[in-house]
Amino acid sequence: MPLVTTTKMFADAYAGGYAIGAFNVNDMEIIQGIVQAGQALNAPLILQVSKGARAYANHTYLVKLVEAALEVTGLPIALHLDHGPDFATCKSCIDGGFSSVMIDGSHLPYEENVAETKKVVEYAHAHGVVVEGELGQLAGVEDDVNVSAEDASYTKPEQVQDFVARTGVDSLAIAIGTSHGAFKFKPGTKPQLRFDILREVAQRLPGFPIVLHGASSVPQEFVAQIKQYGGAMDDAIGIPEDMLREAAKMAVCKINIDSDLRLAMTAALRRHLTENPGHFDPRQYLSPARNAIQAMVEHKIENVLGCAGKA
Ligand code: G3H
Ligand code: 13P
Ligand code: ZN
Repeated sequence: MPLVTTTKMFADAYAGGYAIGAFNVNDMEIIQGIVQAGQALNAPLILQVSKGARAYANHTYLVKLVEAALEVTGLPIALHLDHGPDFATCKSCIDGGFSSVMIDGSHLPYEENVAETKKVVEYAHAHGVVVEGELGQLAGVEDDVNVSAEDASYTKPEQVQDFVARTGVDSLAIAIGTSHGAFKFKPGTKPQLRFDILREVAQRLPGFPIVLHGASSVPQEFVAQIKQYGGAMDDAIGIPEDMLREAAKMAVCKINIDSDLRLAMTAALRRHLTENPGHFDPRQYLSPARNAIQAMVEHKIENVLGCAGKA
């Protein structure tokens, strides 16, 4: 089966009250862990690649690994550029085999975001590729961009119809209080998402797929395990999974998860190497790391996304 776009995935997810997981991939073990979970639960998948992932692993390696995943699993898989910083990067991914790209103009003044997004949409659609745009700015760290909580801004619902109509985007990422990275809310604070904004956006864009970035839940058992086996992490909490499940039943059709995969993989590696100090064959410590990714993705599919059996 060739790569799919997200068009049918999102239409089915919207109608069915569930979401598709968009998982960040950087190497073979991460890809294998994710698709093994998709296979085990017959779930559609979005594998997403950031600018940093392309710099780390090389565009062609990642595309070929995802092609291998398609061939091995037969699952519906979209290959998506995460946080495309500019037209040139989006074009390179469209020309280089991706089925979906994000142009992240969320940091630009509104009119510039519209113009840059429209330019990407025109090129992408002419090549059969779908586009995610973003309005509103999340706090947190992504690639080399660090947005402080003070500089973050919620999406303004009154802008969304104009943005979608003028750009032609296929999905829209909005800011309702999620944030990138493993440090979202300080311990003791009560995580809150602006469901009122999500509701208003959904009313203004009936049937239109909405995307949530920064949606890791930062499971405390993995943070504890990393610390137990010699790692150092500040205490923090993530987005409660029941809130994400609620959003998935509404207009949210794509939920982005990266930090939780990093936590699961790092915890498994640290534990394995501590318990097996004599191991130096990478297959010995990368196997439990890959299994940890698979277990995490299965957990998300069942408890957050609701997309088991929807492939
Ligand atoms: O939102 C950003 C993703 O977690 C990707 O992170 O830019 O470090 O690859 P990265
Ligand atoms: P997390 O850092 O919460 O996993 O978010 C990932 C993300 O939004 C990728 O675009
Ligand atoms: Zn993101």
